[in-house]
Amino acid sequence: MKPEISSISQISPAQSVVCILGKEELPGWLKLNKTETEYAIKQIKAKEEYVIINSYFKVTYIIRTKNNSDYYKTWEELRKTAFNLRKLIRAENLSELAIGAYEAPEGSAEAFAEGLILSFYSFDKYKTKKEAADKKNYPSRLLLYGDIDDLKIRWLTTLTDAVYISRDLINEPVNHLNAPALADEIKKAGETAGFRVDIMTKGKIEALKMGGLLAVNKGSVDPPVFCILEWKPEKPVNANPVVLIGKGIVYDTGGLNIKTGDYMDNMKADMAGAAAVTGVLFTAAKTNMPVHVIGLVPATDNRPGGNAYTQGDIITMFNKMNVEIGNTDAEGRMILADAISYASKYTPEIIISIATLTGSAAMTFGFQALAAMGNADEKYFRLLKESGDEVYERTAQLPFWEEYGELIKSDIADIRNVGGREAGAITAGKFLENFAEYPLIHLDIAGPGSLKKDDYYRLKDGPGTGVRLLSVFLKKYTEGVK
Ligand code: BES
Ligand code: ZN
Ligand code: ZN
Repeated sequence: MKPEISSISQISPAQSVVCILGKEELPGWLKLNKTETEYAIKQIKAKEEYVIINSYFKVTYIIRTKNNSDYYKTWEELRKTAFNLRKLIRAENLSELAIGAYEAPEGSAEAFAEGLILSFYSFDKYKTKKEAADKKNYPSRLLLYGDIDDLKIRWLTTLTDAVYISRDLINEPVNHLNAPALADEIKKAGETAGFRVDIMTKGKIEALKMGGLLAVNKGSVDPPVFCILEWKPEKPVNANPVVLIGKGIVYDTGGLNIKTGDYMDNMKADMAGAAAVTGVLFTAAKTNMPVHVIGLVPATDNRPGGNAYTQGDIITMFNKMNVEIGNTDAEGRMILADAISYASKYTPEIIISIATLTGSAAMTFGFQALAAMGNADEKYFRLLKESGDEVYERTAQLPFWEEYGELIKSDIADIRNVGGREAGAITAGKFLENFAEYPLIHLDIAGPGSLKKDDYYRLKDGPGTGVRLLSVFLKKYTEGVK
């Protein structure tokens, strides 16, 4: 339920249109009369963010880009303007809206369309009143005008679909989406997009002795799941798969070290990493990306019920290492650690974990950056940074020196699941590294993974962070390997 995207090769005089200008001049295809044109030029010169012209049959939105030197900054500017225009566009009740660019950086029309679609999302399935229906008054078709081929349309459609899927998963509260329900949703996404999904249920997880996932699950009445998502095209560019691992804590109460005050706010979003991985697999499969990629999603809620794991417990993990529990609220790394060791069976080229892992990362970067760290070759970090800049899901790299590893030493076991208060995001990453037999990049999205209020088109609660970043990363990766 979102606008459809297609391309058009001509703008008719009655067509409502968004016109993106790279300079203070109107293109010939924008069919305005003389007074409208004069008015538009005057307003553009006055540096308005946008100019709206209401003609009898149509509405024309004119946007002058401010920054033409860095294409990716222009794109972000346009996504934001799209968000700013979303209500005005809705109010017009248009059935279709054309979007075209003139002398603006390549990709401008797509960026505006992307921002607009992401801004039209709403999570309203539990609203029984009319208000929800009003929000659906967006144009049902966006027509991209210019040099836009089917591949670009397909990419944009798929990517925005994937973000919607990811957002729906995050926004669903735990009483409607426990771990087994998350597995069902992932299965559905797999069926729609064409990637394979295998679900390991509790018996199998026990047989494999995934001690980390089982420990976190002990306080819950719902069983854990371990989801394996796989997209393997006929001729992948990579001999060894890229393994993506997403934290699937469907709700984080903190466990016995229960979260106090408002720290439990929006902890249904503690599976945003899992939602991102699902979205990325969706994009890879739907666009038939020539890359072999595996997604691993360990999932459970973290609660203080029943026989909940406790501070002081010593847990034997899937890889046989013993972990001393310093805090039951550091549960994400416990379930990710098992998934990271499990990834070895695929002899991955690289493992990328994505998780709402530490308040520390959120305190450091706010919601502006994904904290990136790990021991993988710098070329992967560079590619991530480049991808992040393009979609404005930007990564900022943290140091990963071995000295940080000393903070999580244990006196009585191999390792502790928490360090001190210092460098919390990094010690969490270092903890994960202990379980990685292959190169690892870890992305901590505790900041941008869930939002208290809209950050433009990154809508509040579950913005779907990481889907666009990792999808573009994989796309660039396949282009680079070829
Ligand atoms: N899910 C939280 C991290 C989090 C915090 C995500 C805020 C989003 C917003 C994680 O499981 C957690 O509780 N981490 C603890 C670790 C600590 C006990 C070492 C934290 O960061 O406080
Ligand atoms: Zn926690
Ligand atoms: Zn958590």
